[in-house]
Amino acid sequence: MTRTDDMTGTDRTSMRSDLCGRIDSGDVGRRVAVCGWIDRRREHSEHLAFVDLRDHSGVLQCVVDGARELRAEFVVRVTGTVRQRPEGTANPALPTGEVELQDCEVELLSRADPAPFPLDERTEVDETLRLRHRYVDLRKPRMQRNLRARAALNRAIRRAMDAQGFVEVETPMLIASTPEGARDFVVPSRKEPGSFYALPQSPQIFKQLTMVGGVDRYYQIARCLRDEDLRADRQFEFTQLDVEASFATRDDVLGFVTRAVAEATEEVTGEAAAVGESGTFDRITWQDAMERFGSDKPDTRFDMELRELTTIFAETQARVFMAPCVKGICLTGGAESLARSRVDELVALCQSWGAKGLAWMRVVAAEAGEEAPTGSQAGAPDSSQSAALEGGVSKFLSPSEAAAVIAALAAQPGDMVFLVADERRLVRQVLGLLRLELGRPPVNDGSFNYLWVVDFPLFEAVASDGSPIPSHHPFTMPHQDDLTSLMSPDGPPAGEDLLQVRSQAYDLVLNGWELGSGSVRIHRRDVQQRIFEMLGIAPDEAHKRFGFLLDAFRYGAPPHAGFAVGLDRLAALLAGEENIREVIAFPKTQSGADPLTDSPSPIADAHLRELGLRVLPPA
Ligand code: AMO
Ligand code: AMP
Repeated sequence: MTRTDDMTGTDRTSMRSDLCGRIDSGDVGRRVAVCGWIDRRREHSEHLAFVDLRDHSGVLQCVVDGARELRAEFVVRVTGTVRQRPEGTANPALPTGEVELQDCEVELLSRADPAPFPLDERTEVDETLRLRHRYVDLRKPRMQRNLRARAALNRAIRRAMDAQGFVEVETPMLIASTPEGARDFVVPSRKEPGSFYALPQSPQIFKQLTMVGGVDRYYQIARCLRDEDLRADRQFEFTQLDVEASFATRDDVLGFVTRAVAEATEEVTGEAAAVGESGTFDRITWQDAMERFGSDKPDTRFDMELRELTTIFAETQARVFMAPCVKGICLTGGAESLARSRVDELVALCQSWGAKGLAWMRVVAAEAGEEAPTGSQAGAPDSSQSAALEGGVSKFLSPSEAAAVIAALAAQPGDMVFLVADERRLVRQVLGLLRLELGRPPVNDGSFNYLWVVDFPLFEAVASDGSPIPSHHPFTMPHQDDLTSLMSPDGPPAGEDLLQVRSQAYDLVLNGWELGSGSVRIHRRDVQQRIFEMLGIAPDEAHKRFGFLLDAFRYGAPPHAGFAVGLDRLAALLAGEENIREVIAFPKTQSGADPLTDSPSPIADAHLRELGLRVLPPA
């Protein structure tokens, strides 16, 4: 096959023979036509100029005679002959750096005003300015890379879901409210003034209806809309890989989603994600995640696990540690790396997170004759050197408490240990955040630690009136082992016992980000009724809110389970971006505006009248 044949038809059009970035030494001698934007023009001599031409594939240097009127971002077509660059002028930083075009004819296709901001990768540009001229921003190599990564992600996901027998079904955008816990965006009805549609927060109810409808395995790359405060990992509009399967258990769903996500990871990054023998990513229970990492979305790219120290302080004389729960973490080398001012900062941070304080101590080598802590061997080389605690709250600890803390945290001289004593929930939360503050690697460190978090509690808290607040949505099946007590004829557990009830809900976590959620759904009417009762939803209210789903279940509901992966988040992490905005072609600003089309914006009075709406003056 000749090189020209090898070039896929995707590169060539009627106007060009090649893409700029794909020309190399193998093309020397060919006459080619390339099209694109002028990246840069540099004068060479009185007549000659170097014109760098850019398209989405890269940049190609063209030596142009009489380029005086050509400016950056002008759109041109250049026909020229590929030649090796003269000795000593090659640019190894550029894939096309060995070659250039000579004997060029330039055809000007479009003039351009000066770009509203520099298009290089180094200049930090104001977000609103970037988004107002997003069409210019998208020309940057970074944005081209990200959009193409996202397309590759979708492609791999469709391929994996199709291969597993899933059917892509589109669900409506104009619907009644969905129960995902955020605010709805609403659309006024013209035919029925005073009535409104809601835009879907997710296709949740419709995908469950497809199960009743015998679809068996549903998926959709679905747009979802939620009116909630925007953050780095949240937009009003976002995209889910939405999945539901009939006659399937939790483990089936974990397998389906693992395969799709693993194949997408490989497609985008070129590297395989670690999938265990069970055919799924690693798993951890919610309980373990909270105890060991202080988070339901643990970043397992680094250790620094939370260690249980409560029993060590069971009979302590130190007031600081007289609490229902004491845990600690150890920062390797922290005694040397942390300045005193930084330690004070950490204490203040923990207090801002709700802790009473943060106890810290330096780990030092024990002096000769000093009692060696349990588990350490005096005189052995480095790894098991005798250690003692110094500074901070160390003076309040008895020698045996100090030794036990050092052993439990596997602390070595040079380390710093941090302890928090309080209610268990608070200790976990504060140390979980401190762990991230001290150890979290940058987003784009190139590793992808997928983790399933399973057995979430059914309820996340109990309201002051004693009614529980569900962790997921109210259609989530309780854990099989907790079902008997929940369905007991004497009534369900109450108070704190309620928080012990587990569900069949699970999350997928990547590098500390919640990537997705799902659950086995309730398909039994008696269980659904009991959950509604517990949530304080009366039968008529349940009927009003979810009547169509409950009705559907009367006509034969298969056991089913499902999941939704946030594709913006997955695309961002795979592309090494910290903000999902960078992988969305036309996102909103932090304040929810679109400076490009200037939305949201008022509508004409006539339009309002037609919809039966009147706008109140601002409060
Ligand atoms: P959930 O509400 O957890 O579950 O959403 C699933 C995933 O969607 C992503 N996500 C978002 N991404 C960007 N911006 C947002 N505003 C946003 N909100 C959510 C997250 C999240 O993990 N119907 C259930 C799934 C199910 O039970 O099958 C659902 O929507 O990555
Ligand atoms: P105090 O005795 O309140 O001056 O606290 C002494 C040290 O213990 C300070 O460094 C506090 O930040 C820390 N501290 C106080 N209360 C707690 C707590 N509940 N858990 C961990 N450290 C604490």
